[in-house]
Amino acid sequence: MKLLRWGAVLIFCGVVLARSGSLLQYAAARAKPLSNPTAGDAEAIRAGAKLYTRECAECHGADKQGTGRAPALAYELVRQAPPGALFWVLRNGSPGRRMPSFAHLPEAQRWQIVTFLQRMPEKAPGQ
Ligand code: HEC
Repeated sequence: MKLLRWGAVLIFCGVVLARSGSLLQYAAARAKPLSNPTAGDAEAIRAGAKLYTRECAECHGADKQGTGRAPALAYELVRQAPPGALFWVLRNGSPGRRMPSFAHLPEAQRWQIVTFLQRMPEKAPGQ
Protein backbone atom coordinates (compact mmCIF):
# COMPACT_ATOMS: atom_id res chain seq x y z
CA MET A 1 0.00 0.00 0.00
CA LYS A 2 2.75 2.39 1.05
CA LEU A 3 4.67 1.54 -2.10
CA LEU A 4 1.63 2.30 -4.21
CA ARG A 5 1.20 5.68 -2.59
CA TRP A 6 4.83 6.62 -3.22
CA GLY A 7 4.44 5.41 -6.77
CA ALA A 8 1.54 7.79 -7.25
CA VAL A 9 3.56 10.65 -5.78
CA LEU A 10 6.46 9.89 -8.10
CA ILE A 11 4.24 9.76 -11.16
CA PHE A 12 2.64 13.06 -10.17
CA CYS A 13 6.06 14.72 -9.76
CA GLY A 14 7.17 13.26 -13.06
CA VAL A 15 4.17 14.77 -14.81
CA VAL A 16 4.83 18.18 -13.25
CA LEU A 17 8.54 18.16 -14.05
CA ALA A 18 8.08 16.78 -17.53
CA ARG A 19 5.67 19.54 -18.52
CA SER A 20 6.47 20.26 -22.12
CA GLY A 21 6.04 23.78 -23.43
CA SER A 22 5.75 26.98 -21.44
CA LEU A 23 3.70 27.59 -18.34
CA LEU A 24 1.37 29.66 -20.47
CA GLN A 25 0.73 26.77 -22.86
CA TYR A 26 0.17 24.48 -19.89
CA ALA A 27 -2.32 26.98 -18.46
CA ALA A 28 -4.09 27.47 -21.79
CA ALA A 29 -4.85 23.76 -21.90
CA ARG A 30 -6.46 23.91 -18.45
CA ALA A 31 -8.03 27.32 -18.15
CA LYS A 32 -11.69 28.01 -18.70
CA PRO A 33 -12.37 30.43 -21.54
CA LEU A 34 -12.91 33.75 -19.80
CA SER A 35 -13.20 37.21 -21.21
CA ASN A 36 -11.31 40.01 -19.56
CA PRO A 37 -13.85 42.48 -18.11
CA THR A 38 -11.33 45.35 -18.41
CA ALA A 39 -9.69 44.52 -21.76
CA GLY A 40 -8.23 47.62 -23.41
CA ASP A 41 -9.46 49.94 -20.67
CA ALA A 42 -6.95 52.78 -20.17
CA GLU A 43 -7.59 53.06 -16.43
CA ALA A 44 -7.06 49.32 -16.00
CA ILE A 45 -3.81 49.47 -17.98
CA ARG A 46 -2.50 52.19 -15.66
CA ALA A 47 -3.55 50.28 -12.55
CA GLY A 48 -2.12 47.04 -14.00
CA ALA A 49 1.21 48.74 -14.72
CA LYS A 50 1.48 49.82 -11.09
CA LEU A 51 0.62 46.34 -9.85
CA TYR A 52 3.14 44.84 -12.28
CA THR A 53 5.91 47.06 -10.90
CA ARG A 54 5.00 46.12 -7.35
CA GLU A 55 4.37 42.39 -7.78
CA CYS A 56 6.12 41.12 -10.89
CA ALA A 57 9.03 43.36 -11.95
CA GLU A 58 11.39 41.85 -9.39
CA CYS A 59 11.39 38.56 -11.33
CA HIS A 60 10.17 39.43 -14.83
CA GLY A 61 12.06 42.73 -15.15
CA ALA A 62 10.80 46.32 -15.06
CA ASP A 63 10.52 46.31 -18.86
CA LYS A 64 9.11 42.72 -19.04
CA GLN A 65 12.28 41.53 -20.75
CA GLY A 66 12.86 38.90 -18.10
CA THR A 67 15.67 38.38 -15.58
CA GLY A 68 17.72 35.40 -14.50
CA ARG A 69 14.79 34.47 -12.26
CA ALA A 70 11.92 34.48 -14.73
CA PRO A 71 11.19 34.57 -18.46
CA ALA A 72 10.32 37.65 -20.50
CA LEU A 73 6.64 38.55 -20.77
CA ALA A 74 6.95 41.12 -23.55
CA TYR A 75 6.34 38.78 -26.41
CA GLU A 76 3.58 37.89 -28.80
CA LEU A 77 2.46 34.70 -27.06
CA VAL A 78 1.58 36.61 -23.91
CA ARG A 79 -0.18 39.34 -25.87
CA GLN A 80 -2.25 36.82 -27.82
CA ALA A 81 -2.81 34.30 -25.02
CA PRO A 82 -6.41 33.58 -24.04
CA PRO A 83 -7.11 35.96 -21.12
CA GLY A 84 -8.32 32.96 -19.10
CA ALA A 85 -4.86 31.35 -19.38
CA LEU A 86 -3.11 34.41 -17.91
CA PHE A 87 -5.75 34.59 -15.21
CA TRP A 88 -5.08 30.89 -14.50
CA VAL A 89 -1.33 31.54 -14.16
CA LEU A 90 -1.98 34.39 -11.72
CA ARG A 91 -4.29 32.25 -9.62
CA ASN A 92 -2.25 29.04 -9.61
CA GLY A 93 1.33 30.18 -10.12
CA SER A 94 3.65 27.58 -11.56
CA PRO A 95 2.91 23.97 -10.69
CA GLY A 96 6.71 23.65 -10.61
CA ARG A 97 6.53 26.28 -7.82
CA ARG A 98 9.00 28.72 -9.30
CA MET A 99 6.31 31.30 -9.87
CA PRO A 100 4.13 32.27 -6.90
CA SER A 101 0.35 32.33 -6.91
CA PHE A 102 -1.33 35.73 -6.81
CA ALA A 103 -4.66 34.39 -5.63
CA HIS A 104 -4.41 36.74 -2.64
CA LEU A 105 -4.93 39.76 -4.92
CA PRO A 106 -8.56 40.71 -5.56
CA GLU A 107 -9.87 39.38 -8.86
CA ALA A 108 -10.28 42.91 -10.22
CA GLN A 109 -6.57 43.58 -9.69
CA ARG A 110 -5.59 40.33 -11.40
CA TRP A 111 -7.63 41.36 -14.43
CA GLN A 112 -5.90 44.76 -14.43
CA ILE A 113 -2.54 42.97 -14.58
CA VAL A 114 -3.78 40.79 -17.46
CA THR A 115 -4.99 43.92 -19.24
CA PHE A 116 -1.59 45.53 -18.82
CA LEU A 117 0.27 42.43 -20.07
CA GLN A 118 -1.90 42.11 -23.14
CA ARG A 119 -1.84 45.77 -24.00
CA MET A 120 1.95 45.73 -24.12
CA PRO A 121 2.62 49.43 -24.49
CA GLU A 122 6.20 50.22 -25.51
CA LYS A 123 6.67 51.77 -22.11
CA ALA A 124 4.52 51.55 -19.02
CA PRO A 125 2.57 54.78 -18.46
CA GLY A 126 4.55 57.27 -16.44
CA GLN A 127 7.96 55.97 -17.51
C1 HEC B 1 9.42 35.07 -7.53
C2 HEC B 1 9.56 35.34 -8.96
C3 HEC B 1 8.31 35.65 -9.75
C4 HEC B 1 7.38 36.63 -9.53
C5 HEC B 1 7.32 37.64 -8.38
C6 HEC B 1 6.45 36.56 -10.63
N1 HEC B 1 6.80 35.55 -11.49
FE1 HEC B 1 5.86 35.03 -13.22
N2 HEC B 1 7.13 33.50 -13.48
C7 HEC B 1 8.21 33.21 -12.67
C8 HEC B 1 8.88 32.02 -13.17
C9 HEC B 1 10.10 31.35 -12.56
C10 HEC B 1 8.15 31.61 -14.32
C11 HEC B 1 8.39 30.36 -15.18
C12 HEC B 1 7.59 29.27 -14.50
C13 HEC B 1 7.52 27.99 -15.27
O1 HEC B 1 7.99 27.92 -16.41
O2 HEC B 1 6.94 27.05 -14.71
C14 HEC B 1 7.06 32.57 -14.48
C15 HEC B 1 6.15 32.50 -15.51
C16 HEC B 1 5.17 33.44 -15.74
C17 HEC B 1 4.25 33.43 -16.86
C18 HEC B 1 4.21 32.40 -17.97
C19 HEC B 1 5.14 32.82 -19.07
C20 HEC B 1 5.23 31.81 -20.17
O3 HEC B 1 5.80 32.15 -21.21
O4 HEC B 1 4.77 30.68 -20.00
C21 HEC B 1 3.46 34.53 -16.75
C22 HEC B 1 2.36 34.96 -17.71
C23 HEC B 1 3.88 35.22 -15.55
N3 HEC B 1 4.92 34.54 -14.97
C24 HEC B 1 3.30 36.39 -15.10
C25 HEC B 1 3.63 36.99 -13.89
C26 HEC B 1 2.95 38.15 -13.37
C27 HEC B 1 1.86 38.91 -14.10
C28 HEC B 1 3.51 38.41 -12.13
C29 HEC B 1 3.10 39.47 -11.16
C30 HEC B 1 1.71 39.49 -10.76
C31 HEC B 1 4.55 37.43 -11.91
N4 HEC B 1 4.59 36.59 -12.99
C32 HEC B 1 5.37 37.40 -10.79
C33 HEC B 1 8.60 33.91 -11.55
C34 HEC B 1 7.93 34.97 -10.99
